[in-house]
Amino acid sequence: MRDVAVIGIGCTPFGEKWGSSFRDLFVQAGTMALEDAGVAGEEIGAMYVGNMSAGRFIEQEHVGALIADYAGLATAHIPSTRVEAACASGGLSFRQAFIAVASGLEEIVVAAGVEKMTDVGTGVSVDALAGAADREWEGFVGATFPGLYAMIATDYMNRYPLTREQLAQVAVKNHYNGARNPIAQFSQEITIETVLSSSLVADPLRLFDCSPITDGAAAVVLAPLERAREYTDTPVRVLASAQASDTIALHDRRDISTLDATVAAGKRAFEMAQLSPRDIDLVEVHDCFTIAEICAIEDLGFCRKGEAGRLTEEGVTALGGDLPVNTSGGLKACGHPVGATGIKQVCEVVQQLRGEAGRRQVDGARIGMTHNVGGTGATVAVHILGV
Ligand code: COA
Repeated sequence: MRDVAVIGIGCTPFGEKWGSSFRDLFVQAGTMALEDAGVAGEEIGAMYVGNMSAGRFIEQEHVGALIADYAGLATAHIPSTRVEAACASGGLSFRQAFIAVASGLEEIVVAAGVEKMTDVGTGVSVDALAGAADREWEGFVGATFPGLYAMIATDYMNRYPLTREQLAQVAVKNHYNGARNPIAQFSQEITIETVLSSSLVADPLRLFDCSPITDGAAAVVLAPLERAREYTDTPVRVLASAQASDTIALHDRRDISTLDATVAAGKRAFEMAQLSPRDIDLVEVHDCFTIAEICAIEDLGFCRKGEAGRLTEEGVTALGGDLPVNTSGGLKACGHPVGATGIKQVCEVVQQLRGEAGRRQVDGARIGMTHNVGGTGATVAVHILGV
């Protein structure tokens, strides 16, 4: 297996992008990534595109072909493949691109993600998202994603010491970081009171405990490490790529407050990179709801079960803390265009490791991690990157 590096990144602003179509968003992100890498279109060997539900959101399927066409690569017959794993589609697209380069099959590969969610109303998007859970046993009986994560939060708060204020602090921190990220959907800082007084969505989760509905796209370019310096002075190595599965329905799990797929993927990633949680300088975790960030910090092994609320309250996970979590603003404040999120996480870590993260820069960052979840944890992708 060959060593692989990220040589270019591009990400559109996230939010309600009514002036840009699905294909526009992809082309914007892809063009930025190619320009950043100094790679010409004809050098691309393959493309992988993370997308969860273009069929429901914009009534478009055959997304790989559409993207190849509007990227100007269709008539050159470049292979383009859609990757779908619900909200982990981006993370898996990155992993497929990594495998293609690491195996020696391809040289220059684009991994991207795109979702256009705001062309439909909230009811349709919430129902489309519910397709990431078990439709027969969860969706048909009314379980939405906020509802499923509310069950996780309720179970967690019954068993472990997590206060409502500590949970709200996750959103306060991520909005603080998002306010320092030019691409973020939400640029306002908030207080614990903002979260606690926002409308109840699914008890105990309130509006500001939820990631929003978002349009956006992100793309990265990968190359074999030995060729990376032909393109950039700042290649970022992919030190580990791991993926794990679990039952699709929450009620079939051994323990609904522990995402076993996160535990498994995290362990595999640390083994592959020959690193431990102490070595990580920053991590982008899948905070689709505030409780998800609490679980992720613990399930990845950064602390014991029941400790993440206290660490959040003490500022350990804030910018300037020992383990900055979600410096991009996370899904909560940066936004969550589901198919694009896993690639945006990679873009954020690469920016941080290059020292290009501006007002949210983590001083001296050398190793970063991404954690991308599909559904309530039926698919998890974890990557470790380093310079
Ligand atoms: N956080 C903060 N503010 C939010 C928000 C969020 N998550 N979602 C919407 N808002 C704001 C909007 O900006 C808008 O503000 P404005 O009135 O100042 O313009 C206001 O709240 C109403 O927005 P609207 O789009 O009507 O919200 P909604 O009630 O239709 O949707 C949720 C809110 C929480 C139901 C929706 O964001 C949601 O379903 N989120 C979860 C998405 C999800 O499950 N993703 C997959 C996870 S794996």
